[in-house]
Amino acid sequence: MKAAFIHQPGPPESIQYACLPEPEMSSNQILVEVMAVSVNPIDTYIRSGKVAMDLPSPFIVGCDFAGRVLQVGSQVTQFKPGDRVWGSNQGLLGRQGTFAERIAIDAQWAYKLPDEVSFESAAAVALVGITAHLGLFAEAGLQAGQTLFIPGGSGGVGSMVVQMASLHGAKVITTAGSPGKAERCRELGADEVILYREQSVEDSLKQVAPQGVDVWWETLREPDFDLAIGCLAPRGSMILMAGREARPCFPVGPFYVKQCQLRGFVMFGAPASQQAACASEIAGWLADGRITACIDRRLPLSEAGEAHRLQAENTVEGRGVLAGKIVLTP
Ligand SMILES: NC(=O)c1ccc[n+]([C@@H]2O[C@H](COP(=O)([O-])OP(=O)(O)OC[C@H]3O[C@@H](n4cnc5c(N)ncnc54)[C@H](OP(=O)(O)O)[C@@H]3O)[C@@H](O)[C@H]2O)c1
Repeated sequence: MKAAFIHQPGPPESIQYACLPEPEMSSNQILVEVMAVSVNPIDTYIRSGKVAMDLPSPFIVGCDFAGRVLQVGSQVTQFKPGDRVWGSNQGLLGRQGTFAERIAIDAQWAYKLPDEVSFESAAAVALVGITAHLGLFAEAGLQAGQTLFIPGGSGGVGSMVVQMASLHGAKVITTAGSPGKAERCRELGADEVILYREQSVEDSLKQVAPQGVDVWWETLREPDFDLAIGCLAPRGSMILMAGREARPCFPVGPFYVKQCQLRGFVMFGAPASQQAACASEIAGWLADGRITACIDRRLPLSEAGEAHRLQAENTVEGRGVLAGKIVLTP
């Protein structure tokens, strides 16, 4: 079968697209015919070696997938051949990735996909959607009527957080790097959009949320705690989930005097059962159109290297080349 893989960490060009042996399926796994995958920033960190993980060799890149079940292992009861499935959590922690024509994955990491939801949408939403759900509801405990701020409302995570927070009845404030992206953020449900390349985020936030924001979801890899804590409401929460190398200054006094909270999380640290519950709710929202996948572009799987280059340019270099996800199809 065809797959996109590396033999050792390196630049995007180190991804080869060639034939590999068919995956071997164990008794707790399902064999999936992959119909769509998407790229996440973590894929690029693992591929480059920036995030060191034990990798099988060859290592097939990619976390997210959507496809059809071809076979089920003897211990698997929840799926049958022909089922439409989707999920994430592959290509991590020693697991083989998803950028291949067929993949064998533990059944606990696969979720049923309603007929109304396309494979491309499911692949685009998998990691970022589960991240948004975990962060908003399990970590931040977002309540209807609260005010939430997230930079990058048209980004992978941002577009999911904006939609789910808005659906939940929060007032959502976000940022965008261009008027076109700002328009997209409003379509997704943002109440206020700050054009961060032209406007001061601090001044704009003080104008649109004079009492402060209840939840500050930081997506930037270099958080500015002076800015965030200055803009939090008393007893506000800040979510951290990006910027592994960041070592910013932290204004201790303003933080505790305001009685704020700081929570960090990583989606792949959540148990499979918790992620499955998030995925089930997300699939329902996608099926009835309450949330939508934000796909910037579609590429063939053979262009996995180019997809990694674009994703890193967007997330690591902040070049604003994407507005949403890159989806690839075998
Ligand atoms: N902890 C976890 O479980 C977890 C899960 C998923 C992702 N992450 C991390 O979260 C981060 C975001 O991921 P993603 O998939 O959303 O990436 P992405 O799709 O590349 O989005 C990045 C966003 O950041 C915005 N941005 C860049 N520089 C900015 C600035 N100076 N001010 C305001 N906005 C700025 C961009 O907005 P414009 O295009 O408008 O400029 C873009 O929307 C990554 O570091 C990723 O590794 C962590």
